[in-house]
Amino acid sequence: MTQYVTEFGRDGRPAEPDGRLDAPAFHRNHQAIWTVLEKFLAGQSGDVLEAGSGTGQHVVYFARQNPDITWWPSDLSEAHLKSIAAWRAAAGLPNVRPPQRIDLSDPAWSVAAVDGGAPGKLLAMFCANVIHIAPWRVAEGLVAGAARHLREDGRLFLYGPFKRDGRHTAISNAVFDTSLRSQDPEWGVRDVGDVTKLAEGVGFRLAETFEMPANNLILMFERR
Ligand SMILES: C[S@@+](CC[C@H](N)C(=O)[O-])C[C@H]1O[C@@H](n2cnc3c(N)ncnc32)[C@H](O)[C@@H]1O
Repeated sequence: MTQYVTEFGRDGRPAEPDGRLDAPAFHRNHQAIWTVLEKFLAGQSGDVLEAGSGTGQHVVYFARQNPDITWWPSDLSEAHLKSIAAWRAAAGLPNVRPPQRIDLSDPAWSVAAVDGGAPGKLLAMFCANVIHIAPWRVAEGLVAGAARHLREDGRLFLYGPFKRDGRHTAISNAVFDTSLRSQDPEWGVRDVGDVTKLAEGVGFRLAETFEMPANNLILMFERR
Protein backbone atom coordinates (compact mmCIF):
# COMPACT_ATOMS: atom_id res chain seq x y z
CA MET A 1 0.00 0.00 0.00
CA THR A 2 1.21 3.47 -0.74
CA GLN A 3 1.87 6.11 1.84
CA TYR A 4 -1.23 7.93 0.65
CA VAL A 5 -3.59 5.03 1.05
CA THR A 6 -2.22 3.84 4.36
CA GLU A 7 -2.71 7.33 5.72
CA PHE A 8 -6.37 6.52 5.95
CA GLY A 9 -7.18 5.84 9.58
CA ARG A 10 -3.51 5.47 10.39
CA ASP A 11 -2.98 2.14 8.65
CA GLY A 12 -6.54 1.00 9.10
CA ARG A 13 -6.88 1.71 12.80
CA PRO A 14 -9.92 3.86 13.45
CA ALA A 15 -8.91 7.30 14.68
CA GLU A 16 -12.00 7.43 16.87
CA PRO A 17 -14.05 4.64 18.47
CA ASP A 18 -17.11 5.70 16.44
CA GLY A 19 -15.31 4.87 13.17
CA ARG A 20 -14.13 8.35 12.22
CA LEU A 21 -10.94 8.02 10.21
CA ASP A 22 -8.38 10.75 9.80
CA ALA A 23 -6.53 11.39 6.54
CA PRO A 24 -3.48 13.60 7.10
CA ALA A 25 -3.78 14.82 3.49
CA PHE A 26 -7.14 16.39 4.39
CA HIS A 27 -5.42 18.75 6.82
CA ARG A 28 -2.98 19.79 4.11
CA ASN A 29 -5.39 20.28 1.22
CA HIS A 30 -8.94 21.13 2.34
CA GLN A 31 -8.53 24.89 2.58
CA ALA A 32 -6.80 25.19 -0.77
CA ILE A 33 -9.49 23.04 -2.40
CA TRP A 34 -12.27 25.12 -0.87
CA THR A 35 -10.64 28.32 -2.13
CA VAL A 36 -11.21 27.01 -5.66
CA LEU A 37 -14.64 25.48 -5.09
CA GLU A 38 -16.02 28.57 -3.42
CA LYS A 39 -15.38 30.65 -6.54
CA PHE A 40 -18.18 28.64 -8.13
CA LEU A 41 -20.27 27.56 -5.15
CA ALA A 42 -20.43 30.80 -3.16
CA GLY A 43 -23.91 32.27 -3.36
CA GLN A 44 -25.26 29.15 -5.03
CA SER A 45 -27.76 26.60 -3.79
CA GLY A 46 -28.33 23.04 -4.82
CA ASP A 47 -27.01 19.51 -4.47
CA VAL A 48 -23.36 18.52 -4.74
CA LEU A 49 -22.19 14.93 -4.87
CA GLU A 50 -18.78 13.93 -3.62
CA ALA A 51 -17.57 10.73 -5.24
CA GLY A 52 -15.04 8.65 -3.31
CA SER A 53 -15.41 10.72 -0.14
CA GLY A 54 -12.91 8.65 1.86
CA THR A 55 -12.99 9.64 5.50
CA GLY A 56 -15.80 12.20 5.03
CA GLN A 57 -13.73 15.09 6.37
CA HIS A 58 -13.90 17.14 3.17
CA VAL A 59 -17.66 16.93 2.84
CA VAL A 60 -18.21 18.07 6.41
CA TYR A 61 -15.77 20.97 6.05
CA PHE A 62 -17.29 22.11 2.76
CA ALA A 63 -20.84 21.84 4.10
CA ARG A 64 -19.94 24.18 6.96
CA GLN A 65 -18.88 26.86 4.47
CA ASN A 66 -22.24 27.20 2.69
CA PRO A 67 -25.52 26.08 4.32
CA ASP A 68 -27.42 26.54 1.04
CA ILE A 69 -25.61 23.64 -0.58
CA THR A 70 -26.57 20.08 0.29
CA TRP A 71 -23.67 17.64 0.15
CA TRP A 72 -24.13 14.00 -0.83
CA PRO A 73 -21.09 11.96 0.20
CA SER A 74 -20.39 8.54 -1.26
CA ASP A 75 -17.79 5.82 -1.40
CA LEU A 76 -17.30 2.18 -2.18
CA SER A 77 -15.50 1.05 0.98
CA GLU A 78 -17.56 -0.03 3.99
CA ALA A 79 -14.99 1.37 6.43
CA HIS A 80 -15.07 4.71 4.65
CA LEU A 81 -18.88 4.79 4.57
CA LYS A 82 -18.81 4.20 8.32
CA SER A 83 -16.27 6.99 8.78
CA ILE A 84 -18.31 9.42 6.67
CA ALA A 85 -21.43 8.58 8.70
CA ALA A 86 -19.53 9.15 11.93
CA TRP A 87 -18.09 12.51 10.82
CA ARG A 88 -21.58 13.51 9.69
CA ALA A 89 -23.09 12.54 13.04
CA ALA A 90 -20.37 14.37 14.96
CA ALA A 91 -20.88 17.52 12.86
CA GLY A 92 -24.67 17.47 13.09
CA LEU A 93 -25.02 19.56 9.94
CA PRO A 94 -28.43 19.60 8.25
CA ASN A 95 -26.88 19.97 4.80
CA VAL A 96 -24.92 16.69 4.73
CA ARG A 97 -26.91 13.67 3.60
CA PRO A 98 -26.09 10.14 4.80
CA PRO A 99 -23.33 8.52 2.78
CA GLN A 100 -24.27 6.11 0.09
CA ARG A 101 -22.44 3.31 -1.57
CA ILE A 102 -21.58 4.34 -5.11
CA ASP A 103 -19.22 2.23 -7.17
CA LEU A 104 -18.01 4.54 -9.92
CA SER A 105 -16.99 1.58 -12.03
CA ASP A 106 -20.66 0.67 -12.37
CA PRO A 107 -21.62 2.36 -15.65
CA ALA A 108 -25.17 2.88 -14.40
CA TRP A 109 -24.46 4.26 -10.91
CA SER A 110 -26.94 6.74 -9.55
CA VAL A 111 -27.61 8.73 -6.41
CA ALA A 112 -30.30 7.09 -4.32
CA ALA A 113 -32.95 8.86 -2.28
CA VAL A 114 -31.99 9.02 1.38
CA ASP A 115 -33.88 10.52 4.34
CA GLY A 116 -36.96 10.53 2.16
CA GLY A 117 -35.51 12.70 -0.57
CA ALA A 118 -33.48 12.39 -3.73
CA PRO A 119 -31.16 15.08 -5.03
CA GLY A 120 -32.22 17.15 -7.97
CA LYS A 121 -29.91 17.47 -10.92
CA LEU A 122 -26.55 18.28 -9.39
CA LEU A 123 -25.01 21.72 -9.12
CA ALA A 124 -21.58 20.08 -8.99
CA MET A 125 -19.65 16.89 -8.49
CA PHE A 126 -16.34 16.78 -6.63
CA CYS A 127 -13.89 13.90 -6.67
CA ALA A 128 -10.49 14.05 -4.99
CA ASN A 129 -7.63 11.62 -5.31
CA VAL A 130 -9.66 8.75 -6.71
CA ILE A 131 -9.06 8.17 -10.42
CA HIS A 132 -5.36 7.37 -10.09
CA ILE A 133 -5.97 4.86 -7.27
CA ALA A 134 -8.46 2.95 -9.37
CA PRO A 135 -8.71 1.38 -12.82
CA TRP A 136 -9.44 3.66 -15.78
CA ARG A 137 -13.02 2.40 -15.88
CA VAL A 138 -13.59 4.37 -12.64
CA ALA A 139 -12.70 7.58 -14.48
CA GLU A 140 -15.01 6.48 -17.29
CA GLY A 141 -17.85 5.82 -14.86
CA LEU A 142 -17.29 9.08 -13.03
CA VAL A 143 -17.41 11.19 -16.16
CA ALA A 144 -20.36 9.34 -17.66
CA GLY A 145 -22.22 9.76 -14.38
CA ALA A 146 -21.44 13.48 -14.38
CA ALA A 147 -23.04 13.72 -17.82
CA ARG A 148 -26.18 11.98 -16.50
CA HIS A 149 -26.51 13.77 -13.19
CA LEU A 150 -25.20 17.32 -13.54
CA ARG A 151 -27.44 20.28 -14.28
CA GLU A 152 -26.93 22.00 -17.60
CA ASP A 153 -24.75 24.58 -15.81
CA GLY A 154 -23.26 21.98 -13.46
CA ARG A 155 -19.54 21.44 -13.03
CA LEU A 156 -17.28 18.50 -12.36
CA PHE A 157 -14.21 19.17 -10.19
CA LEU A 158 -11.38 16.64 -10.17
CA TYR A 159 -8.56 17.08 -7.67
CA GLY A 160 -5.31 15.16 -7.62
CA PRO A 161 -1.94 14.67 -9.28
CA PHE A 162 -2.03 14.66 -13.09
CA LYS A 163 0.46 14.36 -15.91
CA ARG A 164 0.49 17.11 -18.54
CA ASP A 165 1.23 16.24 -22.16
CA GLY A 166 2.34 12.80 -21.01
CA ARG A 167 4.90 14.16 -18.54
CA HIS A 168 4.86 14.23 -14.77
CA THR A 169 4.84 17.70 -13.26
CA ALA A 170 7.16 16.71 -10.39
CA ILE A 171 9.56 13.90 -9.52
CA SER A 172 7.45 13.08 -6.47
CA ASN A 173 4.46 12.44 -8.76
CA ALA A 174 6.58 10.16 -10.96
CA VAL A 175 7.67 8.17 -7.91
CA PHE A 176 4.08 8.00 -6.70
CA ASP A 177 2.96 6.81 -10.14
CA THR A 178 5.54 4.01 -10.14
CA SER A 179 4.44 2.95 -6.70
CA LEU A 180 0.77 2.93 -7.75
CA ARG A 181 1.47 0.86 -10.86
CA SER A 182 3.54 -1.62 -8.88
CA GLN A 183 0.55 -2.23 -6.65
CA ASP A 184 -1.90 -2.52 -9.51
CA PRO A 185 -1.00 -2.11 -13.19
CA GLU A 186 -4.45 -0.63 -13.79
CA TRP A 187 -3.74 2.27 -11.41
CA GLY A 188 -1.61 5.30 -12.16
CA VAL A 189 -1.42 9.08 -12.34
CA ARG A 190 -3.67 10.15 -15.22
CA ASP A 191 -2.89 12.59 -17.99
CA VAL A 192 -4.93 15.79 -18.23
CA GLY A 193 -5.26 15.15 -21.96
CA ASP A 194 -6.69 11.65 -21.50
CA VAL A 195 -9.19 12.82 -18.88
CA THR A 196 -10.18 15.77 -21.06
CA LYS A 197 -10.70 13.50 -24.06
CA LEU A 198 -12.89 11.24 -21.94
CA ALA A 199 -14.94 14.19 -20.74
CA GLU A 200 -15.25 15.62 -24.24
CA GLY A 201 -16.69 12.31 -25.34
CA VAL A 202 -19.72 12.89 -23.11
CA GLY A 203 -20.19 16.57 -23.93
CA PHE A 204 -17.93 18.42 -21.49
CA ARG A 205 -15.00 20.74 -21.98
CA LEU A 206 -12.11 21.49 -19.67
CA ALA A 207 -13.12 24.98 -18.58
CA GLU A 208 -10.30 25.73 -16.16
CA THR A 209 -7.22 24.16 -14.57
CA PHE A 210 -6.06 25.28 -11.14
CA GLU A 211 -2.54 24.73 -9.85
CA MET A 212 -2.72 23.41 -6.31
CA PRO A 213 -0.12 22.93 -3.57
CA ALA A 214 2.08 19.82 -3.61
CA ASN A 215 1.96 19.44 -7.41
CA ASN A 216 -1.75 18.73 -7.58
CA LEU A 217 -4.33 20.21 -9.92
CA ILE A 218 -8.03 20.83 -9.94
CA LEU A 219 -9.62 20.22 -13.34
CA MET A 220 -12.99 21.88 -13.77
CA PHE A 221 -15.25 20.55 -16.50
CA GLU A 222 -18.48 22.07 -17.75
CA ARG A 223 -20.82 21.24 -20.59
CA ARG A 224 -19.86 22.46 -24.02
C1 LIG B 1 -7.12 8.09 -1.80
S1 LIG B 1 -8.76 7.93 -1.30
C2 LIG B 1 -9.34 9.64 -1.42
C3 LIG B 1 -10.47 9.93 -0.48
C4 LIG B 1 -10.92 11.37 -0.39
N1 LIG B 1 -11.55 11.79 -1.63
C5 LIG B 1 -9.79 12.30 -0.04
O1 LIG B 1 -9.29 13.02 -0.91
O2 LIG B 1 -9.40 12.31 1.13
C6 LIG B 1 -9.58 7.12 -2.64
C7 LIG B 1 -11.02 6.82 -2.35
O3 LIG B 1 -11.63 6.31 -3.55
C8 LIG B 1 -12.52 5.29 -3.18
N2 LIG B 1 -12.77 4.44 -4.34
C9 LIG B 1 -11.92 3.58 -4.93
N3 LIG B 1 -12.51 2.94 -5.95
C10 LIG B 1 -13.77 3.42 -6.02
C11 LIG B 1 -14.90 3.14 -6.85
N4 LIG B 1 -14.83 2.21 -7.82
N5 LIG B 1 -16.05 3.81 -6.64
C12 LIG B 1 -16.12 4.74 -5.65
N6 LIG B 1 -15.09 5.04 -4.82
C13 LIG B 1 -13.93 4.38 -5.00
C14 LIG B 1 -11.81 4.59 -2.03
O4 LIG B 1 -12.69 3.81 -1.24
C15 LIG B 1 -11.23 5.78 -1.27
O5 LIG B 1 -12.13 6.26 -0.31
